[in-house]
Amino acid sequence: MRILITGGAGYIGSHTLLSVLAADHQACVIDNFSNSHPDALTRVGRLSNRPFDIHQTDLRDGSALTESVAAFRPDIVVHFAGLKAVGESESHPLSYYEQNVFGTIRLLQAMDAAGCRSIVFSSSATVYGTPQYLPYDEAHPLQPVNPYGRTKYFIEEIIRDWAATDPAKGAMLLRYFNPVGAHESGQIGEDPMGVPNNLMPYIARVAVGRLDRLQVFGDDYDTDDGTGVRDYIHVTDLAEGHLAAINCLQHHRGVEAVNLGTGSGLSVLQMIAAFEAASGKDVPYAIAPRRKGDIDKFWADPERAHRLLGWRARLGIDAMCRSVWNWQSQNPDGYGESPRAG
Ligand code: NAD
Ligand code: UD1
Repeated sequence: MRILITGGAGYIGSHTLLSVLAADHQACVIDNFSNSHPDALTRVGRLSNRPFDIHQTDLRDGSALTESVAAFRPDIVVHFAGLKAVGESESHPLSYYEQNVFGTIRLLQAMDAAGCRSIVFSSSATVYGTPQYLPYDEAHPLQPVNPYGRTKYFIEEIIRDWAATDPAKGAMLLRYFNPVGAHESGQIGEDPMGVPNNLMPYIARVAVGRLDRLQVFGDDYDTDDGTGVRDYIHVTDLAEGHLAAINCLQHHRGVEAVNLGTGSGLSVLQMIAAFEAASGKDVPYAIAPRRKGDIDKFWADPERAHRLLGWRARLGIDAMCRSVWNWQSQNPDGYGESPRAG
């Protein structure tokens, strides 16, 4: 199959690209490198020993995008590209609507022009909003509580309307829980710009000495130890989930929303302990006030992914932490001072 990957230089995209190449698909990456480093793609090329196309294209540039998609003639598009920081989406909501929503509309138009009828979309558990029950299943009401989450919700709806125009169209709306981990080689991994917003990259930078201590945001939540509980999923499992979605789209039509999570949650203190055990490093921390907008606990009902895609997460917290430490200790500065586009 010919697989076009938007955002393929990013954290989840680069791991999925590697899985796509390992499965003998032909691949093309579209990325503007606004939040990634071209070296990630060089490393994927080395690890896979397979050629693939790279287009430095911004999704919002309709004519360049249409040209890139038409040149590659994909069977399926896997769409990762977009902005993802919740706090930034509250201070710059229009950038989020422009890049995420408008960018996706441009992509769907380019797919129509090239006759491509299948898409796998990176959605998020954040579309569910405050849990009305747990685990979240795909029938849980959708009430995202911030602009980032609303872009994901609106895009899901836009893709449903796009798919309804042709019975030959198909889409997988993959709702990720909390992706962590790195490729087993330690050559590619998560390398956020500036101070990380998310727990795992923050812990990794404390362990490697780039940051002094972790702030644990709240220890008075309704959980066993009072700290927030999340469903952390290994990025390698997530990449395999995308392959399963690609395989399913070869015969499946219509639109499916699917959770990609493990089905169980871990607290912040459990994550710290697991990372210390896997790395042999101390992770100093201090209890800090709750972070605005945080939910006490959530995790996935992963059964639909198993029924529909034949996929389950396989890797546990120890493998997640070991892989992060392998990546961070081999690459203390990540991909290094990057010529990332602004
Ligand atoms: P990332 O920032 O590492 O990757 C996104 C990639 O898209 C980057 O390479 C960036 O340069 C590129 N990009 C951004 N805007 C673009 C544009 N306008 N045109 C072309 N390229 C553009 O993020 P990630 O963690 O790999 O996430 C991938 C997707 O998964 C995103 O859509 C994100 O919202 C979603 N998601 C991520 C998480 C998570 O925790 N990482 C959780 C749920 C959902
Ligand atoms: C965050 C986003 C969510 C997004 C997800 C992607 C918010 C409010 N939500 O979710 O929309 O889909 O990332 O993975 O930003 N924590 C600390 N100290 C830290 C960082 C985090 O204690 O320095 C705690 C948090 O309070 C939370 C847990 O660790 O309990 C996980 O946090 P994080 O990794 O940011 O993920 P989410 O909050 O689940």
